[in-house]
Amino acid sequence: MARYHEVYRRSLDDPGAFWREAAAGIDWHTPFTEVFAGERWFPGGELNTCYNALDRHLADRGGQAALIYDSPVTGTRRSYTYAELHDEVARTAGLLKSLGVRRGDTVVIYLPMVPEAVVAMLACARLGAVHSVVFGGFAAPELAARIEHARPKVVLSASCGLEPGRIVEYKPLLDAALAASAHRPEHCVILQRPQCEAAMGEGDLDWATAVAGAEPAGCEWVAATDPLYILYTSGTTGMPKGIVRDNGGHAVALHWSMAAVYDTGPGEVFWAASDVGWVVGHSYIVYAPLLAGCTTVLYEGKPVGTPDAGAFWRVAGEYGVKTLFTAPTAIRAIKKEDPNGDLVKDHGLRYLFLAGERLDPDTYHWASDLLGVPVIDHWWQTETGWPVAANCMGLEPLPPKPGSPTVPVPGYDVRVLDENGAECPPGVEGAIVVRLPLPPGTLPTLYRDHDRFESAYLARYPGYYLTGDGGHLDADGYLFVMGRTDDVINVAGHRLSTGAMEEVVATHPDVAECAVIGVADELKGQVPAGFVVLKSGTARPAAEIEAELVALVRERIGPVAAFRRVSVVARLPKTRSGKILRGTMRAIADGRTYRPPSTIEDPGVLAEIERALRSG
Ligand code: COA
Ligand code: AMP
Repeated sequence: MARYHEVYRRSLDDPGAFWREAAAGIDWHTPFTEVFAGERWFPGGELNTCYNALDRHLADRGGQAALIYDSPVTGTRRSYTYAELHDEVARTAGLLKSLGVRRGDTVVIYLPMVPEAVVAMLACARLGAVHSVVFGGFAAPELAARIEHARPKVVLSASCGLEPGRIVEYKPLLDAALAASAHRPEHCVILQRPQCEAAMGEGDLDWATAVAGAEPAGCEWVAATDPLYILYTSGTTGMPKGIVRDNGGHAVALHWSMAAVYDTGPGEVFWAASDVGWVVGHSYIVYAPLLAGCTTVLYEGKPVGTPDAGAFWRVAGEYGVKTLFTAPTAIRAIKKEDPNGDLVKDHGLRYLFLAGERLDPDTYHWASDLLGVPVIDHWWQTETGWPVAANCMGLEPLPPKPGSPTVPVPGYDVRVLDENGAECPPGVEGAIVVRLPLPPGTLPTLYRDHDRFESAYLARYPGYYLTGDGGHLDADGYLFVMGRTDDVINVAGHRLSTGAMEEVVATHPDVAECAVIGVADELKGQVPAGFVVLKSGTARPAAEIEAELVALVRERIGPVAAFRRVSVVARLPKTRSGKILRGTMRAIADGRTYRPPSTIEDPGVLAEIERALRSG
């Protein structure tokens, strides 16, 4: 039997032995008593994730680069050895400790792509504190919702972030979020960046001064089942889901994935060109490469415009990157500016991994032809923390099929079910689910909302985890992920909730009702499109209201929502019982053949939606 199939079978037939073996890749302070019990991985075990990411490498690779920071937007490059990164992290942990942060306390991190973001996450892990990183492209109300739910003791932030052509002032956003939140952290520590200094308020601490005076702190041993972090992600409603990640399962799974999925080992350079605010950044900028003794690259900038569409290849070649991981949208952005690949130089890459959204075959072929290395689509989610389906380069490269992230990764028993819970035959589309238990590293619950965890993921098909994606398996066992079956969309690799956007649009005084759906976009993959019905008697010009709605979503959710398309319509398609037919609207938008449900109130409404979609 081929190696992938043999390893995959073993992972499902004897998960205890399989994951016990993988757990040997991690240093444990106290060995676990069981591999899996009571729905949790490695109970009884004690470890520290920061110890495994830094301290344990000091003897063998203290002088090796752990982190390379490359920031074309500030003209900065800096490399940190394992010893240097360890010292920074220990002192930052000491600062947090002096501010009263203890094991189990939460800390919100709201930082751009600067080394301090990585340091802050590891410093929390060192103390057994639970970090919650908030992506910089969100607006103040989104930050407020996360602060209110996570209840941090301390917030770590910066004066600003840098986006192409503009400075994003973080501190006023943080101040507005704190003013809107019912929870007040005890301290805010602010990193002053020279591009824009922030006005400090009472109780705010200057990062550089505070860290300089701090005593280094050692590692606190925590239970394998203790939370390492909370990462909020978009769900169906405005309130994001607080995905919880444990320490033990996460360290084991991520360490295992570096060799098995990414074929990248100690001393090699791994670059996830993403953002620490997303799960890809958590798993593959920060934790996995360091757990594996690799060098990780932290890139502050976009792949285009700053300085040019050849930036990715320059960075890859310069630092000897073996494995690059980014989103298909980033490759499409490069392709748009450099269609013939004139800027592709000696990149030296061995692999390009892509995830975050469906990899369209055009982009797959363009990148494969140009780079001459395996281009690997792989599929996973914030909830799982690491790949569910991939072509596992460290096990056995399988023949790629464009449009498919290949096969289930060992540990994941992936099935496709129909509406009644029966397995779909090969080629037939249904709901993609994973048979329980999920492997280590995946979410054990939602922070302070276990009921929502059960209702959102486990209730629909008892015994299975509902991924929220639809697709099919083919006769060779390859998975094809066709898209979300819920109100989640992926805009330029950013996960967003159309439900949350609808909640914002509905607050406009002239809006009677609305629907937001994801529509295909050549560059971003998907963008949101809103349809609104105005309150009767509203006499204001539609264009004016549409512009206000665009501004409102940007102000409440953030620029990252890229909410630019909104149309005033006379009516929305609904069933006779008043349910908005979002599925039918999505089918129209995708150009799929659709049959409106027999319960539709007035099929004539669909023509207007079609017109609005066509006019863009
Ligand atoms: N802080 C503040 N604003 C941000 C931000 C951040 N961290 N990230 C994005 N934004 C803003 C952008 O400046 C832009 O603002 P604008 O409307 O004023 O232009 C808006 O949000 C939309 O950003 P984006 O959709 O990212 O478009 P872009 O043209 O700036 O960049 C890509 C396009 C493809 C380069 C970029 O989206 C990208 O790299 N995506 C990959 C995401 C990813 O890594 N996902 C994880 C899976 S690997
Ligand atoms: P996130 O939680 O932000 O990582 O987004 C997860 C979602 O992105 C998944 O549920 C999918 O809808 C989508 N996604 C991620 N990777 C892929 C992929 N390789 N192919 C298709 N969709 C993907």
